[in-house]
Amino acid sequence: MSNVVKIDKWNPDLAVIAGAASILRDGGLVAFPTETVYGLGADGLGADAVKKIFAAKGRPRDNPLILHVCDKQETARLAKRDQRALDLMDKFWPGPLTLVLPLLENSCVPKEVTAGLSTVAIRMPDHPVALALIEATGHPLAAPSANRSGRPSPTDAWAVDFDLGEGVSMVLDAGSVDIGLESTVIDLTGEEVLLLRPGGLPAEKLEAFLGSPLKTPGADASKRSPGTRYRHYAPDLDVRIWDKKDALGALCVTPSESGFIGLTKPPVPFRRIIVFDSVQSYARGVFASFRDMESDDGCRCVIAEWPEPEGIGLALRDRIRRAASV
Ligand code: TXA
Ligand code: MG
Repeated sequence: MSNVVKIDKWNPDLAVIAGAASILRDGGLVAFPTETVYGLGADGLGADAVKKIFAAKGRPRDNPLILHVCDKQETARLAKRDQRALDLMDKFWPGPLTLVLPLLENSCVPKEVTAGLSTVAIRMPDHPVALALIEATGHPLAAPSANRSGRPSPTDAWAVDFDLGEGVSMVLDAGSVDIGLESTVIDLTGEEVLLLRPGGLPAEKLEAFLGSPLKTPGADASKRSPGTRYRHYAPDLDVRIWDKKDALGALCVTPSESGFIGLTKPPVPFRRIIVFDSVQSYARGVFASFRDMESDDGCRCVIAEWPEPEGIGLALRDRIRRAASV
């Protein structure tokens, strides 16, 4: 953990931030906390720096990255913004909402960030360390979640170090994140607002603000959001979904080799049992629980209770479903 540096979330040491920003300006990689999950940052306007992200994560080149900004005005030189986009920024930024917008002509965003699409995804994270780092770097930061591609997203610095180790120059460690699932991604390039990825900002809040339901992309989903094509969020365990209506026995697992996570205390003596007191804490803890059970050699399987698809539950369902699919 030699490259992991502790930093106070509410009072970040500016000398540490300046050191991290200088690594980024020199084209290096720095992992940093956000309110959703830890990100693996590079100078978002530097093509060579951005390429290092794909190498460190083993990420497919056709999966575009989110640019992280520290103020709304910075988006003006990156993307075309209509009134709807500006209103959403005013209402929900900083926060767990990513906007997919049309790129400006002659844009300064390298094609490595957008994977050659004519759109760019942008968000302003709600975390003092992230905001200070972006500001000190002076450029937007391209940052995917700081895990090896396909693995659960990291919700603390330990998980970043476990997955990426020396592949990242510095990991800023501000403790565990608040939300635990990635941002909500919406597409604003057409008349209708499309929900590309449910996430930390509940769809209901967006719908109440917009005054209309979000649409989900149809058959061209993977073209619009290439990330949805790949297996994701999966620990090195067999992940099974338990819908409370069904008998646990129907899952045919060996309790002594299986862990359980969810909101209901199971009537079976599983090897490990983690019961959360709310859907928010389930969301915050799901990826760390996967990693915790994965590190137990005797644990082969994890059963995840299927949450209701409301609020953060919709995003939690999405992550559990993807982790379970082979
Ligand atoms: O909360 C988050 O969003 C975290 C933190 C670090 O900010 N980041 C994150 O990044 O989850 P990543 O790369 O793991 O997921 C970004 C998602 C992917 O599904 C990607 O395909 C989609 O956003 N995306 C990025 N640019 C896009 C674009 N131009 N059009 C459509 N989808 C895009
Ligand atoms: Mg990711």
